[in-house]
Amino acid sequence: MSRTIYILNGPNLNLLGQRQPEIYGYDTLDDVRQRCAQLAEGKGFSVDLFQSNHEGVIIDTIHEARSAACGIVINPGAFTHTSVAILDALNTFEGPVIECHISNVHKREAFRHHSYVSLRADGVLAGFGVEGYELAVRRICSVVSAGG
Ligand code: DQA
Repeated sequence: MSRTIYILNGPNLNLLGQRQPEIYGYDTLDDVRQRCAQLAEGKGFSVDLFQSNHEGVIIDTIHEARSAACGIVINPGAFTHTSVAILDALNTFEGPVIECHISNVHKREAFRHHSYVSLRADGVLAGFGVEGYELAVRRICSVVSAGG
């Protein structure tokens, strides 16, 4: 069985570190990749981090995860609030799924309060900054190691 965790990121997250740093901070996705890789390696797992601004590419990557990944961490960006198609794709994945938002979406505009992805997610993190990705990876490692 795969020991690879997919970390999927949606639109605009390629600009992490430059985009609205007062909300999302100064760390980049590459920083996230390195920290999550180090954490996962210490637990006998590896991570693959992806980012796309295109809904279909994210869906294709979720389909790939069906055979390539033991768990998914997903920050769908604004697709969180709009995409039934990403929800449907996640519903085809059998392992643990953790939804991760850098900002506390519940403290922000009302349109960010609803998530389609939460209907599938086994856990949701919001407002932990980029540290949320590491918490999500840690959770997937322990769920997979426990056999569930
Ligand atoms: C986000 C929150 C979303 O509402 C927003 O559209 C994003 C980032 C977050 O990580 O806090 O792009 O998912």
